[in-house]
Amino acid sequence: MTLSFAQYEITDAPHMLALGARLAGRLRACDVVLLSGALGAGKTTLSRGLIKALCDVDDVPSPTYTLLQTYEGPEFPVYHFDLYRLENPEDVWELGIEEALDEGVSLIEWPQRLGDLSPDGALHVEIEFMETGRMVKLSGDALWEKRFDNV
Ligand SMILES: Nc1ncnc2c1ncn2[C@@H]1O[C@H](COP(=O)(O)OP(=O)(O)OP(=O)(O)O)[C@@H](O)[C@H]1O
Ligand SMILES: [Mg+2]
Repeated sequence: MTLSFAQYEITDAPHMLALGARLAGRLRACDVVLLSGALGAGKTTLSRGLIKALCDVDDVPSPTYTLLQTYEGPEFPVYHFDLYRLENPEDVWELGIEEALDEGVSLIEWPQRLGDLSPDGALHVEIEFMETGRMVKLSGDALWEKRFDNV
């Protein structure tokens, strides 16, 4: 069952980076984070905050054209996907998603491109536009809710 368990009002991009750093502390190897929201919602910005905290990398390009960028962290690699340009869900196997799901933390922008291949048990992050800034909503199963107690 998917529960909606947290939401944050994020006024600007620096606060989006900071939210990424806060969420990063709760992630472990083999986690999948599905980031949805319209074009320009802030999915990559949130990913930058996560990757900085997990891998100490400052230069995080949007994987718009490469579809995948990989980062080495001290405990596990981080796989940053942007599937906007994925034509068929099956093409994701060629990107090496199996390896990502087996050993790393996978951050996936435009997860709807995966269709039925979308992984189970993921943390869902939905970003909505507000008059100023964004609303970031977290949902997932009860295990995720427990992990995000007091964030
Ligand atoms: N909370 C926020 N409030 C206002 N602006 C923000 C916020 N978060 C990010 N931005 C700005 O929004 C713009 C788009 O952000 P970003 O590239 O992260 O979006 P995206 O969801 O990854 O887009 P795409 O769908 O193209 O991949 C950037 O200029 C970023 O600085
Ligand atoms: Mg993006």
